[in-house]
Amino acid sequence: MSGQHTLPDLPYPYDALEPYISRQIMELHHKKHHQTYVTALNAAETNYAKTTTPKERIALQAALRFNGGGHINHSLFWKNLAPAANEGKGNGGVLKEGPLKQAIDSTFGSLDALKKEFNATTAGIQGSGWGWLGLNPTTKRLEITTTANQDPLLTHIPVIGVDIWEHAFYLQYLNVKVDYLNAIWNVINFEEAEKRYTEGVSGSKL
Ligand SMILES: [Fe+2]
Repeated sequence: MSGQHTLPDLPYPYDALEPYISRQIMELHHKKHHQTYVTALNAAETNYAKTTTPKERIALQAALRFNGGGHINHSLFWKNLAPAANEGKGNGGVLKEGPLKQAIDSTFGSLDALKKEFNATTAGIQGSGWGWLGLNPTTKRLEITTTANQDPLLTHIPVIGVDIWEHAFYLQYLNVKVDYLNAIWNVINFEEAEKRYTEGVSGSKL
């Protein structure tokens, strides 16, 4: 079946991540940007199903990769966020004792050290892309990595993904990407991250 993807609902209201991510950003990001990837992915898959030659199929690869990646990445991103605990709104930003915290402490030394390394690595992305905390499927170790444009993470199992496109922060943080990166840790859903981590360690496919 092709062309059947739909925009998933956010698991919280548009203003739920304030003050760290504004309602305006969340509405545009979800209703406009993510919707555009879904619409274009459906169109590309519909066209792909009608192709009759390899040349026609090759011509659609870029659209499938870009819009398919955009849909995959944003669907993960919304679930990776949660209203901030330090605003009394939810569980965002809180890493409880458990397997993920143990892995972060043993790999990076502390959550603060992970944040510092993650922010430094993702701040270095040239142009648009994504920052990832991923599980290396071979070594079962946590690693920080990046992907360009809307490329999904294929080398690792994604545990946390952060959108580093300007559309994710510019309306609130302007050109100061590092302020966005510092702020977003207040709304990271570590419970979701731990779920992805433990499923990845146990070998199930995400
Ligand atoms: Fe985005």
